[in-house]
Amino acid sequence: MSPDRLEAVLMLLMLMVYNASGAFVGINIGTNVSDLPSASDIVSILKAKKIQHVRLVDSDHEMLVALANTGIEVMVGVPNNQLLRMGQSRPTAADWINKNVAAYIPATNITYIAVGDEILTTVPNAALVLVPALQFLQSALLAANLNTQVKLSSPHSMDMISKAFPPSTATFNSTWSSVMLQYLGFLKKTGSSFMLNAQPYYGYVKGQGVFPLEYALFRSLNPNSQIADPNTNLFYTNMFDAMVDATYNSIKAMNFTDIPVMVTASGWPWHSARKEPAADVDNALAYNTNLIRHVLNNSGTPSQPNNQVSTYLFELFSEDLRSGSVSGESWGIMFSNASAVYSLTFEDVATASTDSPALHGMFCVANSSAPHSALKQSLDWACGPGSANCSAIQPGQPCYKPDDIVAVASYAFNDYYHRTQASGGTCNFNSTATISSTDPSLSIHVSLVSLSQH
Ligand SMILES: *[C@@H]1O[C@H](CO)[C@@H](O)[C@H](O)[C@H]1NC(C)=O
Ligand SMILES: *[C@@H]1O[C@H](CO)[C@@H](O)[C@H](O)[C@H]1NC(C)=O
Ligand SMILES: *[C@@H]1O[C@H](CO)[C@@H](O)[C@H](O)[C@H]1NC(C)=O
Ligand SMILES: *[C@@H]1O[C@H](CO)[C@@H](O)[C@H](O)[C@H]1NC(C)=O
Ligand SMILES: *[C@@H]1O[C@H](CO)[C@@H](O)[C@H](O)[C@H]1NC(C)=O
Ligand SMILES: *[C@@H]1O[C@H](CO)[C@@H](O)[C@H](O)[C@H]1NC(C)=O
Ligand SMILES: *[C@@H]1O[C@H](CO)[C@@H](O)[C@H](O)[C@H]1NC(C)=O
Ligand SMILES: *[C@@H]1O[C@H](CO)[C@@H](O)[C@H](O)[C@H]1NC(C)=O
Ligand SMILES: *[C@@H]1O[C@H](CO)[C@@H](O)[C@H](O)[C@H]1NC(C)=O
Repeated sequence: MSPDRLEAVLMLLMLMVYNASGAFVGINIGTNVSDLPSASDIVSILKAKKIQHVRLVDSDHEMLVALANTGIEVMVGVPNNQLLRMGQSRPTAADWINKNVAAYIPATNITYIAVGDEILTTVPNAALVLVPALQFLQSALLAANLNTQVKLSSPHSMDMISKAFPPSTATFNSTWSSVMLQYLGFLKKTGSSFMLNAQPYYGYVKGQGVFPLEYALFRSLNPNSQIADPNTNLFYTNMFDAMVDATYNSIKAMNFTDIPVMVTASGWPWHSARKEPAADVDNALAYNTNLIRHVLNNSGTPSQPNNQVSTYLFELFSEDLRSGSVSGESWGIMFSNASAVYSLTFEDVATASTDSPALHGMFCVANSSAPHSALKQSLDWACGPGSANCSAIQPGQPCYKPDDIVAVASYAFNDYYHRTQASGGTCNFNSTATISSTDPSLSIHVSLVSLSQH
């Protein structure tokens, strides 16, 4: 077999292991909401938003009925307060599967069960029942002949990882080593995913200034704000990828491989009663828009470029009755009267029109007083990591001006800005660019600078 063919076959095998259909974005539906809409109203909202995957906190029977025959894939949950019984009694686990899963399949497409939520970090004394609960539930699925349709796993918090940066040296907190070994063994044996609740919002707030807000919001635009892992030389343009890679490396440090990571909760609050300044509508919209774009782009993470990370947004409705660490924070994308807190689309925003009407008549142009060396550096960045479409300024193309760094840089900066502004792109380029109302394509300069290829 030729190397190319071999590579293609290996690629295909990998795609089969990691879900050939590509990554998806689903949403969490929490129920600690004082005026929660009815199950059928919730399903109408999901349909209107074209949401195809939901994670329920529990196994509410009205929701499971309302979700029947909708084509929506459902993850149900075993709440933390039921885990103890499930892990101590095989019949209790079997009974739970029969009443909450088997009774609704196939009309309701239940594909995953999240057993507990952040159990090791929030209810440490239940740690010893986690894996027994998974095993009892798995036996019950097997007995009901549902073990290929339904997978089992358990969501973990980033707090499980002692030192998440740099990702290459991340490990799970050794307090839970023996539980993690059994848990990973279970996932490997059953072909299930590691479930991670990845919240860059908390990473940003707890970092107290160590990480730029842009990095948490997928807005690392300038090369000087990218964060490199010194051991691998991989560049991290966003904290989400760094969290996922820290998890892959923690799994690897336990000598397990080929366990995919799935993100079971990720979002951004649009309001905080604690007056945390980063919790606002602009940031929540930017985070969630960029997260959806990132996941649907199927680009994986820097250390695992071929492993796509399906993600459940957190969350549909703000949970005003929820206690604990999220108290006072509003994470929902909808009000319970079904109006949107901010407008978010679940379709592939990456392929949507890139130019925003708000930018009509606004141009991002190179600062002609900036040193040419700095302009060149920014130009290289815009055409490289910034993904501006620089084909028109390449040799032989209509806007190729080998002598005019200001003109070609303006072309690249403007293209970049118009593509990315809606999702938070800025016109700064390390202070070598500025907004102008004059179309830079109308000005022609001559000097001698060559463009590097990308
Ligand atoms: C349920 O979801 C799975 C995974 O996407 C899909 O393969 C299957 O066809 C769905 N089943 C039904 C009945 O819609
Ligand atoms: C590991 O977890 C234990 C128990 O929660 C905690 O006391 C300890 O500080 C953690 N260690 C690290 C390095 O985070
Ligand atoms: C940004 O500008 C500073 C100061 O002019 C310079 O030291 C740095 O190398 C620049 N960074 C990049 C990536 O262009
Ligand atoms: C992983 O394997 C290495 C090399 O065989 C060994 O030194 C290490 O103790 C193992 N780690 C765990 C957590 O089993
Ligand atoms: C999408 O993925 C491609 C490679 O697969 C990458 O070059 C590009 O930068 C990604 N775009 C975004 C917006 O993440
Ligand atoms: C949800 O609200 C109930 C009281 O209404 C409370 O007992 C429970 O702890 C809350 N759940 C969470 C996750 O905060
Ligand atoms: C929905 O609720 C929000 C928040 O309470 C309110 O601001 C908005 O006006 C309501 N929308 C409608 C259509 O009632
Ligand atoms: C343009 O560059 C010059 C020289 O680096 C700098 O002093 C000036 O502030 C820049 N202008 C803008 C708008 O960034
Ligand atoms: C890039 O620009 C060229 C020339 O302007 C155009 O033909 C091409 O379709 C553009 N490519 C993308 C991906 O937008």
